[in-house]
Amino acid sequence: MSKTSKTAASAQIKRKHSDLKEKVNYHNERYHTHDKPEISDYDFDQLFSELLKLEEEYSGLDLTDSPSQRVGGDAIAAFKKMDHRLPMISLANSYNEEDIKEFNARIKKFLRNDKDVEYFAELKLDGLSMELVYEDGQLVRALTRGDGVTGEDVTHNVKTIKSIPLKISHKKLLEVRGEVLIDKKDFVEMNQAYEEAGQMVFANPRNAAAGTIRQLDPKIAASRPLKFFAYALGAYEGIIFDSQKDIEEKLAALKFPIIDRKFTECTSSEEELIEYYHRINQHRAQLPFDIDGIVIKVNSLSLQDDLGMVARSPRWATAVKFQPEQAQTVIENIVVQVGRTGALTPVAVMKPVKVGGVTITNATLHNQDEIDRKDVRIGDTVIVQRAGDVIPEVVQVILDKRPKNSEAFLIPTNCPTCGTKASKEPEEAVLRCQNPFCKSILIGSLIHFVSRRAMNMEKVGDKLIEAFVELELVQNFSDLYKLTDKDIQKLERQGEKSIQNILNSIEKSRQTTLARFIYALGIRFVGEQTAKLLADHYGTIENFMKTEAEELEKVPEIGEKVSATILKWLHDKRMQSEVKTLAKYMTFEAPKRNLEGKLTGMSFLVTGTLPVKRDVAHEKIEENGGKLLSGVSAKLSYLIVGEDPGSKADKAQSVGVKIISWEEFLELLK
Ligand code: IVH
Repeated sequence: MSKTSKTAASAQIKRKHSDLKEKVNYHNERYHTHDKPEISDYDFDQLFSELLKLEEEYSGLDLTDSPSQRVGGDAIAAFKKMDHRLPMISLANSYNEEDIKEFNARIKKFLRNDKDVEYFAELKLDGLSMELVYEDGQLVRALTRGDGVTGEDVTHNVKTIKSIPLKISHKKLLEVRGEVLIDKKDFVEMNQAYEEAGQMVFANPRNAAAGTIRQLDPKIAASRPLKFFAYALGAYEGIIFDSQKDIEEKLAALKFPIIDRKFTECTSSEEELIEYYHRINQHRAQLPFDIDGIVIKVNSLSLQDDLGMVARSPRWATAVKFQPEQAQTVIENIVVQVGRTGALTPVAVMKPVKVGGVTITNATLHNQDEIDRKDVRIGDTVIVQRAGDVIPEVVQVILDKRPKNSEAFLIPTNCPTCGTKASKEPEEAVLRCQNPFCKSILIGSLIHFVSRRAMNMEKVGDKLIEAFVELELVQNFSDLYKLTDKDIQKLERQGEKSIQNILNSIEKSRQTTLARFIYALGIRFVGEQTAKLLADHYGTIENFMKTEAEELEKVPEIGEKVSATILKWLHDKRMQSEVKTLAKYMTFEAPKRNLEGKLTGMSFLVTGTLPVKRDVAHEKIEENGGKLLSGVSAKLSYLIVGEDPGSKADKAQSVGVKIISWEEFLELLK
């Protein structure tokens, strides 16, 4: 619509406009600045389209403070702000196949061209956009989008993303843009670990990625599974690109991760674009990461130039979003479950509802803070979705549908299983049952004990554990090893064959490693990695059981808090006798590492690019008795540095760790 055909806005329209501006600005800030959206993306897009439509239709509106004039929220103050050489614009959104047809028609009309236009279609990744600036072939800066003009310098965190090259072969300016995200599977694992440790969990992978990038301490980013995919450029010199496809291929050649070619489409056919849109939508749940639609770009860069911009977005591209996988249902009850760490977790039990092809009945509400924040009550009608396309999540209560005289839900202060008074540990959001004999804690602990990464009893599932505990056949870990076929016959529906399988799988688990065994014990804060370090350090279960604080704190990566928790566990008389009994059943495989070697007693960390592959370096260290650490601390004996060492070398210098080259390392072996 041209400017002259606009209608003059009445006072009423002006009011509506300022109301909309305020709303959009507010939600923009919630989403971009605080990572705490209050409405779904879909609802936000609706609001924003409404605003744009109004501005298109009427003249005389005040656009100076309209969110249509910029591209996002303000950058937060804690980080250094920096301007992008070229603004980071965002895409116009559309929602269905009609919109794809309209987009195609618009392009053709604008180009006054009857010939077919080639498009490049790809995934719309649901993470946060990032600009990587390379000068002289070095990554010198990473900026968030910020408001599109000014971003935040998050280089310290972005450098920890392993798939991002720190150095590239193109030696002139190159600004690479793309998306930082976390895979769904990694997100679930990461959240589980945080939940077990009683820490905050993230609502979805996007929030987890954004929250991580916003950290001041890069150690946190380094410990989280961030990924990056390149899909666009900022400024560049000394390199020629002729199409979107060419950009991505050249970026891939420069070693940037790009979206798998299985999931992109280069075509001039409208039907194929539509087919692509539906195909990706169908496949969405199976993708390793969250997407919220597809992006269609005119492939040729010279045509993109001709097409230029419209308002705040390029005319040559559009995002075609998917309908959100959300649904409405009613919360019939809120039950409180007790996990192996005693944590009391409120769970919403809902009227079954289908979301994205999967029926949802339960959703964790995490803790009292979350219940209060969302104000979730029994009887409420709520919107549910699958966070990360996997975990069911209550998004929002529909207050209009709240039954009269409903009451706020309070997690009981007594354990629902054993009735003991639960309590919070300092700085924790969750209530925990502290009764070591609580049946729920026992079941949870046993489930962990037999799990794949622990004792790996393949045929002993959750239901079986519950039955064993109910029948009092098993009251601690070692009881599992005392089970006979007569015992198992007491359970319903267990045939000869399956009884034998169960017993075999218990028997098989006796051959294990010390690391698995320590992990299986389920000591708080002792995850797989810590268990490995403990096993390495102590060598035998006896040594570990009789350790004292001083010795424990020598173990890499174990600080005061973890040490205190481990000691409390080890000093518990019941645990001591239980471990003694258990140990009699075990045959520990010798660790693969050679404990006696030239490097015994020394620890190493490798950083930068070495003349040999990382794995080879690690193997060399371990086969000579050296230990590998994952971070720089005073406990590290040597930091081996290659090319482009990054921040680890600085840190090592500041804490006085010896820094050596690969050649110097090889000298140590002589
Ligand atoms: S192209 C000029 N390609 O969507 C267009 N953007 O509203 C530059 N996004 O902020 C962006 N996947 O965070 C592009 N394959 C993709 C994308 C993508 C996700 C995000 C990006 C941007 C927003 C655009």
